[in-house]
Amino acid sequence: MLAHPELLRILAGCSPPFTVVFADIGGNRELTHVLELLQLLSSTMPHLRYVAVKSEALASELQKAPVNLQEYIKWWEEFCHHVRPVKVRRRRMQQILQHPVRRTKEGTEICRFANYGTCSKAPSECRYDHGHCHRCLQPGHWAMDCEVTEATHEKTEAMATYSLCSEVAEGLFAALRAGGREYLFLKEYNIVIIDSPSLGLSRHRWIQYGPAVIRGVLRHLDIDQVSVFSMGLGSVIFHQILAETPHLLSHTHIVYNQDIADLKSFPFEAYDVEVALRDHDIQIWTIYNDEDDEDPQAYSRHSKGPARLSEAFTKMQADLRCSLSLRNHCGTQRAMEKIDIGCNLAGLQLSCCILNASGPRTNTEQQLMDIARSSSGALCSKSATLEERSGNPQPRYTEIQLGDRTASINSEGLPNKGFAAYSDSSFLQRLKECSEPHGKPYIFSISGLSLKENLEMLDRLAESPDVLQHLSAVEVNVACPNVPGKPLVGYDFPQFAEVVQTMSRHPLFTKDCVLGFKLPPYLDAPLFDAVAKMLNEIALGRGGALGYVVCCNTLGSALAVDIETETTVLHPKGGFGGLGGQLVRHLALGNVRHLRSRLDDSIHVVGCGGVATGEDAFAHILCGATAVQVATQHRVEGPQCFERIASELRELMQRKGYTQLEDFRGKLRVRESKL
Ligand code: SIN
Repeated sequence: MLAHPELLRILAGCSPPFTVVFADIGGNRELTHVLELLQLLSSTMPHLRYVAVKSEALASELQKAPVNLQEYIKWWEEFCHHVRPVKVRRRRMQQILQHPVRRTKEGTEICRFANYGTCSKAPSECRYDHGHCHRCLQPGHWAMDCEVTEATHEKTEAMATYSLCSEVAEGLFAALRAGGREYLFLKEYNIVIIDSPSLGLSRHRWIQYGPAVIRGVLRHLDIDQVSVFSMGLGSVIFHQILAETPHLLSHTHIVYNQDIADLKSFPFEAYDVEVALRDHDIQIWTIYNDEDDEDPQAYSRHSKGPARLSEAFTKMQADLRCSLSLRNHCGTQRAMEKIDIGCNLAGLQLSCCILNASGPRTNTEQQLMDIARSSSGALCSKSATLEERSGNPQPRYTEIQLGDRTASINSEGLPNKGFAAYSDSSFLQRLKECSEPHGKPYIFSISGLSLKENLEMLDRLAESPDVLQHLSAVEVNVACPNVPGKPLVGYDFPQFAEVVQTMSRHPLFTKDCVLGFKLPPYLDAPLFDAVAKMLNEIALGRGGALGYVVCCNTLGSALAVDIETETTVLHPKGGFGGLGGQLVRHLALGNVRHLRSRLDDSIHVVGCGGVATGEDAFAHILCGATAVQVATQHRVEGPQCFERIASELRELMQRKGYTQLEDFRGKLRVRESKL
């Protein structure tokens, strides 16, 4: 992490930001490094609330810390200051070599190691002069203590960037000034071949002065950037330039039969090369062309020099791949996060338009807790009756596999824990506490066995401020096909109208509590007309207080048949049940579309039926749904389905260039006729 702080910066850019870090350092790492890491974390990740670091040294130092908070803070600051790592200048050799060769009046080369660092040799043993200042050329002091003005020093430094090898470079530059540049421009050459006979065959001189000579030539030719083709030892010179001055290099380069020969160490920092590649989007094509194996001098990528280089680059590649994938991942993540799939459902703010349907996995406290913690945009309880019900006898549920999709038939008969369980204020408080996000709307589904029972539940809710504070909506289920002896209210129009009229007048429904109705599927246009007319009258008459309808519950009277036993698959109600999932997908889409086109704008439509993927959700919204409920797929997959469907929806929207649901909601077009 210390060697790659940019990775931490990439992670720090993630949204939502990380608030907890576990720093896995191995227990016995040096304290200076641990503190350096902690400081790096605190400066890079301002949202961190908690860092877990397993350091023996830090733990034992912390034993000495005062208990009082103020004193503790002071102690910590002093402690950090005290053990702060001394920054060692990394590239001492390079720093020394940045100073050009200088000679005494007598012509002896002055020792730059002694002047700018430490010379390991005694003055008598060193072949270079130890008696003069490399900066002012006067005897008696080193360059580090020289009083020559800062300006002179800066000039030397600046010159050093391209004039390390003064005799060689001066000769070369003189030639260039005398017409080289004009010649190149005149001929419109864009290939520069740099050779310097003065460096001859000395690989050490090439390594030492080559980069500076090349930089100097480019500068004199006013060339901003070059692509490099380098061979053999030239690749090492190229890597030096890359590490030190990547801005001189354009995007693509070729390294042919790279070799570092017998040089003991790399004259460049592999880390700087890696950073240059990452930060400047530079790519290197490495080509190997092994020569005749018989010849000991022949090039082989497996021989020591090339192998050492390629090993270093393979490691670098792995690091780059890791950081690039992290960058790409974070980039895609950021782009996806810009896509808003939140919606306003009749006044309820949902951060995600995908939510659970009342039905599967909504019966028990644990199941509701699981939905609260999931990505479901709201929390919808099992349709409650006044008293607890165990529902119809088993078997009462079956699945039909259709490729990778699932349909279902159920005849559960409203098993539920009873009104009191879903309106218990301490339970609702617990639900709220584990909800993610925190203010996730709670939709209380009711399915009283009579209008009277429904009204009684509304009365009880209205009388309980403790419950009301947690309640966002009441969804009245008028569409359960499975209760023996209870015909479906949504198909009995006079009764349905009475239910809607009476319930929508209940004082519970203010702007803080939305009223919704879960409808059965309708199959014919006059029925859609009749339902919409009835709902519109109520909505308009009541100033739009009727919030939404869910299209739709299961399609009743479905029958699953077991060929082997020659019986029905389900037991209750003669084996008939409500068809859901994949087999009602298109019916549900049709219902959403039909009702959306007929209902007043103040009544929102929630799509429900066969939603198993982001595409299904998209189709519902395209047909006009404000939000989308998931039932069968929730039962099959569990509450993680909400996150998956939501991210599939985001991906689809990103592909289509949409950033919010409004961009396509209700915009389904009728296919043009071919004629
Ligand atoms: C049931 O409990 O029978 C299913 C719920 C419903 O269809 O409303």
